[in-house]
Amino acid sequence: KKIVVLISGSGSNLQALIDAEQKGELGCGKITLVVSNKKNAYGLTRASNASIPTFVQTLKQYKDAGKTREDFDRDLAQHIERTEAPDLLVLAGWMHILSPAFIDMFRGRIINLHPALPGELDGAHAIDRAYEEFKEGKRLSTGVMVHYVIPEVDKGKPIMTQVIPCVEGDTLEDLENRIHAVEHQILPRAVKQVLAGSGQTQ
Ligand code: GRF
Repeated sequence: KKIVVLISGSGSNLQALIDAEQKGELGCGKITLVVSNKKNAYGLTRASNASIPTFVQTLKQYKDAGKTREDFDRDLAQHIERTEAPDLLVLAGWMHILSPAFIDMFRGRIINLHPALPGELDGAHAIDRAYEEFKEGKRLSTGVMVHYVIPEVDKGKPIMTQVIPCVEGDTLEDLENRIHAVEHQILPRAVKQVLAGSGQTQ
């Protein structure tokens, strides 16, 4: 089954998926395309190193051409559907809020990794915000979730979640490292589960 992964940055979660596929841990899943909205995303190098085709489309290109976010989202959705018609779209560190039209085209087969628990810390900088609340004594733990994507950011039905403790004396980096280590385990498992059809479609 075809998986398309969307990234914006270092792609350590993409790497976890690549490694899982190579170890046969993605079941029938095969990553056939990596898409980035940033031309310098290191995840593109990770994809190329694994001989996975890449596609870059930046909002800057669109803005410079006098085109809109809607143009960007529509063109990207059409490109992905026409070239891959994927069974699953995985947002792994994808930092571009997708339009309802894009999401509707892939509803039920688009999932996102978010470094927080359902209903908490929606949106960007979730780890930083969790850490701040921990330091203020307002939080003892945080977590990670993989969820179906719907138009409301980070609000779709959870597929898999894991609670992560904040530890006295943690630096932000300690918490980030603990969270990323969990992400690298939970994402491949969630992808395998969804492709096996045991996840309830959103
Ligand atoms: C991860 O923490 C992901 O949950 C968040 O952005 C980070 C991406 O990391 N959305 P990477 O690009 O996969 O290394």
